[in-house]
Amino acid sequence: MSPGDLLPPPRTPPPRTPPPRILLGPGPAMADPRVLRALSTPLLGQFDPEFTAVMNEVMELTRFAFQTSNARAFPVPGTGRAGLEAALVSLVEPGDRVVVAECGRFGLLLIEIAERCGAEVVAVHGEWGRLIDLAAIEAALKGRRTKLVAVVHGETSTGTLQPLEDIARLARDHGALLVADCVATLGGSEVAVDRWGVDVAIAGTQKCLSCPSGLAPVTYNARAEAVIKMRRSKVRSNYLDLGQLADYWSPARFNHHTAPTAMVYGLCEALRAVRDEGLEARFARHRLHGDALRGGLDALGLSLFGKEPLEHRLPFLTPVVVPDGVDELRVRRRLVEDFGIEIGAAFGPLQGKIWRIGTMGYSAQRQFVLLCLAALESVLRREGLHPSPSAAVDAALAHYTSAGPHTDQDVDDNLGASGIGRL
Ligand SMILES: Cc1ncc(COP(=O)(O)O)c(C=O)c1O
Repeated sequence: MSPGDLLPPPRTPPPRTPPPRILLGPGPAMADPRVLRALSTPLLGQFDPEFTAVMNEVMELTRFAFQTSNARAFPVPGTGRAGLEAALVSLVEPGDRVVVAECGRFGLLLIEIAERCGAEVVAVHGEWGRLIDLAAIEAALKGRRTKLVAVVHGETSTGTLQPLEDIARLARDHGALLVADCVATLGGSEVAVDRWGVDVAIAGTQKCLSCPSGLAPVTYNARAEAVIKMRRSKVRSNYLDLGQLADYWSPARFNHHTAPTAMVYGLCEALRAVRDEGLEARFARHRLHGDALRGGLDALGLSLFGKEPLEHRLPFLTPVVVPDGVDELRVRRRLVEDFGIEIGAAFGPLQGKIWRIGTMGYSAQRQFVLLCLAALESVLRREGLHPSPSAAVDAALAHYTSAGPHTDQDVDDNLGASGIGRL
């Protein structure tokens, strides 16, 4: 090759269509088909009034999903982690004291981000699989001026659901803000930002909202906004500067990044789906399918990880203890190869010890729960266990029957009992 020659085109294999998968891990969940359709809507320029109308709708629907009347409610470009980073880098100045409650992998992530922001981090550690002790947070706050408390609402690494109301009260009593990672919970279980007194909440799109990953809906109140406005130093990120992003998502339409328009359409449709289903019905659907799954797992002889009572566990993310003698990875591989079903592995001290099965958003459907249980039964039998034939599926079906008539809305929309009857 001589200088100036173009590189030869790479010899890549012919285009492949990815195989269909049933996504039952901790996220991404299956995308709602109506979201996928919205993603292929023709692109608009970001200052086109047609697009700014979509932005306004996204803000209104975001407020609804977070149950807030905050003026600031918009998506940060990037995945959930970008939202967390935007919140912390915009609020924290080097030397600020930050209390982080940690009882899992995503609490550790908050610690890591706060440290990168130059905070003096005080970590309140809890046992993985348990809630954080309120008294320990109070002790960390006592007597020292603290800028904010950061906590994970739905800790997907262990399956705990941390109540936020009391932590918000504690933070407020000590003059600190509460920043909550609601990446997993928004759209799957209650996130009542105003009622609970959460100052900043961050979500993700690929979990209970059933949109691909790529945006992080956030909301923050006037208290948090005042803290951002009163900074003594410049936010150490341009891309994730919440003040600039807020101006971009305001009538000023401050020119910031180039909007990922397709993702904004997708998020808008995902949030419309939440609104159309209704929050209570949506939370009930997540609870129903999670409970059916857990009933089936119990019939398979499997134990769940975690010691907290049911109300403090995520309804849509079930951590399952890998039985002795069973090859954790081989089970997951067989589920994918033989059944097209993906479930999740675990992190850190739980790696190899638990699986994490998600029934989030569009994945929270009866057909997927039953398929997962039938597939697990088959795979575990090949691992040398002896589950009673069909007991898991029967237990889940019994749960559905005992739960009474339910709205399996996504399925009903596509087929419906009457649709099947007509075939
Ligand atoms: C609780 C929680 N927080 C934060 C994140 C990070 O989000 P993302 O992977 O979208 O950046 C995740 C993702 O798994 C999560 O489950």
